[in-house]
Amino acid sequence: MERNIERIAIIGAMDEEVVALRDGLTELEEHPTPFTDLPVFTGKLDGVEVVIARCGIGKVNAALATQYLIDQFSLKAIINSGVAGGISPEVKIGQLVIGHSSLQHDFDVSHFDYPQGTIPRLETSIFKGDPNLVELAFEAGENKVGAENIHRGLIVSGDQFVSSVEQKQSILAAFPTATCVEMEGAAIAHVAWLNQIPHVIVRAISDQADNTAPDDFDAYLLEVIPTLNGVIRALVRSAHQNAN
Ligand code: ADE
Repeated sequence: MERNIERIAIIGAMDEEVVALRDGLTELEEHPTPFTDLPVFTGKLDGVEVVIARCGIGKVNAALATQYLIDQFSLKAIINSGVAGGISPEVKIGQLVIGHSSLQHDFDVSHFDYPQGTIPRLETSIFKGDPNLVELAFEAGENKVGAENIHRGLIVSGDQFVSSVEQKQSILAAFPTATCVEMEGAAIAHVAWLNQIPHVIVRAISDQADNTAPDDFDAYLLEVIPTLNGVIRALVRSAHQNAN
């Protein structure tokens, strides 16, 4: 299906993270999937061929959607867009984080002496964002929010909404360089790596992964997404130009 057209994939977990991008598509087409809950759309975003999926929350949903898009379409790049909780003290609500790498913070085989986050018997557990896409995403973000409001660093993902200082401190103790926490990025990165497809994670900070995170998430989710979407659109345009 659709193998003749090369596309950039944009994957977001929640409707709020993808609807405005979908509504910005020309030549919009919905593609039925065999799954109970995986809406997929193709079209042109600012003239660039893309496929957008709303994968659902968490690593399993994210991994399945990523592999499905890779199997069904001809992807030249994968962008994961969404919100995240800041865990580094420098990373504040409303700011942006570009993942130069990501890992699964809840992967725990420490019983066999593997450090937290290590996937045993896999060549790597830290999945690097494509350096070119990371640079383009950073430039796009910097243009939108200014250098003081954008970070580039390690993003950690897990099947947990982090909403207490204790939870946040324990993640920071295991991964002192982590910038922000979310629930899909490293799963998408893992599948992209297995398939050798370049990817980048772009996140806007909705909360600080502490005791006020649930309230902040509700308050800021819709507020931070328009800026994030602006960055994603600029990234799609520049990634497309760069490849041609
Ligand atoms: N996404 C946005 N905020 C988050 C948090 N605090 N924990 C996990 N995922 C998030």
